[in-house]
Amino acid sequence: MTLIKQINTQETYPLRQEILRPHHPPEQCRFAGDFDETTVHFGALSNGRIVGILSVYRASNECLDAAESWQLRAMATSKSHRGKGLGLRLIAAAESHVSAQGGTCLWANARLHALGFYEKAGYVAHGKRFEIAGVGPHVLVVKMLRD
Ligand SMILES: CC(C)(COP(=O)(O)OP(=O)(O)OC[C@H]1O[C@@H](n2cnc3c(N)ncnc32)[C@H](O)[C@@H]1OP(=O)(O)O)[C@@H](O)C(=O)NCCC(=O)NCCS
Repeated sequence: MTLIKQINTQETYPLRQEILRPHHPPEQCRFAGDFDETTVHFGALSNGRIVGILSVYRASNECLDAAESWQLRAMATSKSHRGKGLGLRLIAAAESHVSAQGGTCLWANARLHALGFYEKAGYVAHGKRFEIAGVGPHVLVVKMLRD
């Protein structure tokens, strides 16, 4: 059974490095806001091992006119554990947290190859595609939790 629970910042680094920044130095796996009081990191644990991660930050986006915005970032599932619904469970945990904090809007800079995944989770692409240097093509995706 795989459990979704809050984890600390440092526990996210190994999967960030392995999956999201494999060719980058470890310091590039540390993101602005990682230690903010409002930031929460979620992990999917299988037999005590972290096999999925997702972080959520209280952050606005200049392209969005929403007061209570939060950003999803560093979404990753181990290759061996993909296609089992863990990604969607991590997103659901983050959305529950944001909702409980009064958040109304969630957004992410989605890698283009993961756009279909975010769409399955109810996110909608917004605006033009853009490049993040060294990572690849992205698009802003948005979900309103309530009007
Ligand atoms: C994207 C990622 C997080 C998905 O994780 P996952 O645990 O396999 O996702 P789930 O099993 O919850 O998938 C949920 C649904 O999305 C679909 N899906 C998953 N990845 C997809 C993708 N890249 N494109 C289109 N659909 C996708 C699944 O088929 C599933 O659909 P279904 O319910 O109809 O079967 C994972 O593939 C990953 O870590 N990729 C590499 C890192 C990455 O790109 N992260 C996103 C950064 S923006």
